[in-house]
Amino acid sequence: MIKTAGERFIGIMSGTSHDGLDAALVEIDNQKLSLIGTECLNFSDQLRQQLLGFNDLNNSRSLDQVLPAGRAFSALVNQLIETLLESCNIKSSEITAVGCHGHTLRHSPTGNFGYSYQLVDGAALAIECGIPVVCDFRSGDIALGGTGAPLAPAFHQFMFSSDQEHRVIANIGGIANITLLPLDGQPTAGLDTGPGNLLMDYCTERYFDQRYDDRGNIARSGTIEPTLLKKLLDHDYFKQPAPKSTGREIFNSDWLVSLTNDQIEPHSLLATVTELTAVTLADEIIKTGYSQGSVMVCGGGSHNDYLLERIQHHCNDWKITTTLTAGFDPDWIEAAAFGWLAHQRWHRLPGNLTSVTGARRETILGAVYLP
Ligand SMILES: Nc1ncnc2c1ncn2[C@@H]1O[C@H](COP(=O)(O)OP(=O)(O)O)[C@@H](O)[C@H]1O
Ligand SMILES: [Mg+2]
Repeated sequence: MIKTAGERFIGIMSGTSHDGLDAALVEIDNQKLSLIGTECLNFSDQLRQQLLGFNDLNNSRSLDQVLPAGRAFSALVNQLIETLLESCNIKSSEITAVGCHGHTLRHSPTGNFGYSYQLVDGAALAIECGIPVVCDFRSGDIALGGTGAPLAPAFHQFMFSSDQEHRVIANIGGIANITLLPLDGQPTAGLDTGPGNLLMDYCTERYFDQRYDDRGNIARSGTIEPTLLKKLLDHDYFKQPAPKSTGREIFNSDWLVSLTNDQIEPHSLLATVTELTAVTLADEIIKTGYSQGSVMVCGGGSHNDYLLERIQHHCNDWKITTTLTAGFDPDWIEAAAFGWLAHQRWHRLPGNLTSVTGARRETILGAVYLP
């Protein structure tokens, strides 16, 4: 076994919600991971709009806009690393490596030349922060025929496997993904279930001028529209078997508007897209064939009480909780996962699970940039 006593890593993640950057400083000691410190940096409206613009398939930007944005993004990541180190009173020389996911601009893993592109300039970041940086975590898995996503399941398996109960870790970010951790030695499974918060965020911003539906209170006051729900559920993605992963390319406001024609009362629209997230997530849990255990929710969606109630409603005997019940703050799992993935890369250990991504074999994920 590789000796990893007391090594420190920083994981940096920004997901499909486009809310900001999350950073987690973790210590990995004898196969045990502890969360030492956390920091977040909310995107300015301008940066958020720029990133959403880069994501917009109908409005492709030129390379001359995208490439310098990678440098600017890395400078922001560096600021966050500095704040995190300061708040933890830890020097950059005490960090073994930073795992920086970068910001996904495209995720298109299928076909002969599949790819997934994350905005970040790893070389510039390594030089600026003076710490080795691991990025480009998804390409290796895609080159092996995998979906390149979700990547968190290997970390979920490492952190949350139980010998007492079947567990599902449900990460509800912009997109939602689940990891099944069976008790009976069957391999860990995982997939993107479809939209998480992103359609809800779009509706709250557009109709209620708020960044998100706090605790799901607006959705709770609306009525689920069965006709619209049925149309939304009719999307092919929900019928596809695993392995599968998705992103804003598929689930976005254009798709929603094409089905509503802006004709639905806003509270009910929000109730219906919240229900879409709940039903599709619960469906994938039911499809695993296991009928009970704990569903531990993490990501920003774990704060949406109404959404959790709806998931519980559709999940029969599964008990819905958050990862807090296993002692890990649900807001920091994804960032911590990229700290752990940096540890895997640094020690030349695999980071992907073939049972999740469908890749031909396990592989070491990520490109390393030295300062
Ligand atoms: N108090 C809350 N009530 C409801 N939803 C929340 C709350 N806090 C955060 N969220 C949701 O979580 C999202 C951010 O989740 P996050 O896990 O950071 O996603 P991502 O990984 O895609 O960035 C927000 O955009 C919002 O939809
Ligand atoms: Mg986020």
